[in-house]
Amino acid sequence: MKKKSNNWVAKHKKDQFFKKSKIEGFRSRSAFKLIEMNKKFKFFKKNLSILDLGSYPGGWSQVANKEVINGKILAVDIKKMEKVDNVDFIKGDFGEKTIYNKIIFYFNNKVDVVLSDAAANTTGNKTLDSYRTGELCLNAFNLAKKILNKDGIFLSKIFMGSTFKEINKKAKMCFKKVVIYKPLSSKKESKEIYIYCKGILKI
Ligand SMILES: C[S@@+](CC[C@H](N)C(=O)[O-])C[C@H]1O[C@@H](n2cnc3c(N)ncnc32)[C@H](O)[C@@H]1O
Repeated sequence: MKKKSNNWVAKHKKDQFFKKSKIEGFRSRSAFKLIEMNKKFKFFKKNLSILDLGSYPGGWSQVANKEVINGKILAVDIKKMEKVDNVDFIKGDFGEKTIYNKIIFYFNNKVDVVLSDAAANTTGNKTLDSYRTGELCLNAFNLAKKILNKDGIFLSKIFMGSTFKEINKKAKMCFKKVVIYKPLSSKKESKEIYIYCKGILKI
């Protein structure tokens, strides 16, 4: 087991996006996934209100702060996140009612972009892991439906697994545009993929 995890660490350190994140000062290699998806879908603009779910250690929040001039950005994670410039933070589970209420209170209005890179801790059981991360995506999706403005964007991590079809189907019923996308910076061997949704059809 130890040997396996040592191999993972060695592989991770060789990874070009890991190296790049260290050089460019991003807290995670995931930052490059968001940069790449923004290049493709061009959703970051000035003055946006943005909710970053599953934000720790803060790579996506850093990208949002860099790309959005005069934004109102709130990050949420169950793990405490160190301060990112111009980003406010709530520690907690975004599936809980108390955290939901805090999010609503914070924005005091509809939100332009809901991002979710939330992932459950891996157990080694790939079916269980993809199911649990799928549940997080569903929670993020339900939250986004309630708080997004009518032209709003929902961008979320999702795993190719049991919940994929359900989320994709629900998204197509609620949003005008739905695209499934795998950034180049997402590891090929990972079941991770992203769902990009734009423009609420039904609330
Ligand atoms: C892949 S990391 C996110 C990386 C982040 N986007 C970045 O660029 O630094 C996934 C995060 O989801 C968080 N998470 C998992 N379940 C959560 C929940 N119910 N509520 C809030 N955060 C959650 C984990 O604590 C973890 O920090």
